[in-house]
Amino acid sequence: MGWLRTPTERAAALLSWLLLSACAATPNAVEAPRLGQPVDGATLARQQLNVFPDGRGLPPGRGTASEGATLFAHHCAACHGKDARGGSAEELAGATRPLNTPAADKTVGSYWPYATTLFDFIRRAKPMTAPGTLNADEVYALSAWLLHINGVIAADDVMDARTLPAVRMPNRDGFIRIEAD
Ligand code: HEC
Repeated sequence: MGWLRTPTERAAALLSWLLLSACAATPNAVEAPRLGQPVDGATLARQQLNVFPDGRGLPPGRGTASEGATLFAHHCAACHGKDARGGSAEELAGATRPLNTPAADKTVGSYWPYATTLFDFIRRAKPMTAPGTLNADEVYALSAWLLHINGVIAADDVMDARTLPAVRMPNRDGFIRIEAD
């Protein structure tokens, strides 16, 4: 290797040759797809956020509308407006145009068939900028407050895994069931 004059050049050439040989030695090795890390049970449990209409999936905890009012002012009113109307985001209460009119107001109170969806949605997606930061008591309280300002429950009705599924929403029978099988 007369053209490699210095020891550094010779060392670099040797290293390149070793690397090339290492790659060439396994030409047919199939690389496994890099799909991420195995998930452990505790992590998986944190992702199981589904709450069903009959209340399956609701965690222990409790909250009332009175408690939820403060939480809403703090975490939600900036987008949804004071009393959940008049903000830049969706109005969550105060529907005035009925569902059977062309520009119907589809709020939580006028449109949603199940109260349990509130818990599912708030726990999974709210506040919009910091989802997953509210504990179960806070989510029950916020659900209770939204139900209360929609005239569905009283201010001191306790919402928990037993009472929330028992709430009957005004539009409960307004949907046509489709058997999709
Ligand atoms: C940064 C703005 C922002 C904040 C803060 C925020 N939301 Fe929302 N929210 C939105 C927007 C935008 C939508 C409509 C799009 C969507 O469904 O994600 C929405 C939708 C919703 C809906 C569904 C409305 C419907 O009829 O489909 C609910 C319920 C709700 N938010 C509750 C809350 C609660 C409770 C909080 C506080 C814990 C909160 N939001 C905080 C922006 C926000």
